Amino acid sequence: MTPDSKAAVYRSVRMQLASLLEEVHDPTSAMASVAAVLFEALSNASWVGFYRVVEPGLLRVGPYQGPLGCLEIPFGSGVCGTAAQLRQSQVVPDVHAFPGHIACDAQAQSEIVIPIYDLDGDLKAVLDIDSHQPASFDNQDLEPLEEIASLLRPHL
Ligand code: SME
Repeated sequence: MTPDSKAAVYRSVRMQLASLLEEVHDPTSAMASVAAVLFEALSNASWVGFYRVVEPGLLRVGPYQGPLGCLEIPFGSGVCGTAAQLRQSQVVPDVHAFPGHIACDAQAQSEIVIPIYDLDGDLKAVLDIDSHQPASFDNQDLEPLEEIASLLRPHL
């Protein structure tokens, strides 16, 4: 995707989700709606979904689209666990070069993971988007995805 078409896709996803989420008053339904809309919109995504913080230091899989994901990921482990531990988005152009990457899907080549907070600033989940193509995500995905993730804050 060219940078312009990426930006247009994210603009339309954000508008669609902003209006859709006004009607949603349940965290699982909100995450499921975001995963479904992003998976349909991002042609290079092989997996889109959420890992939720279920106890201190532990992520468990939430609503997602794509092949079977890992069930649990400890903080600090793989890309999702690193994003949760550091409370920092991770853009990974080559998952094989990422120390400790968890290969749930042997075909995964690149990914982006965005931490998600509630309105108190507590980390509630991460949004994980994986791709079978290398370098599918870069800084042009980061800001729009962080904005999309922030739409979930009142719902978590
Ligand atoms: N790629 C993730 C693991 C989760 S899945 O592949 C769905 C990671 O390394 O955190």
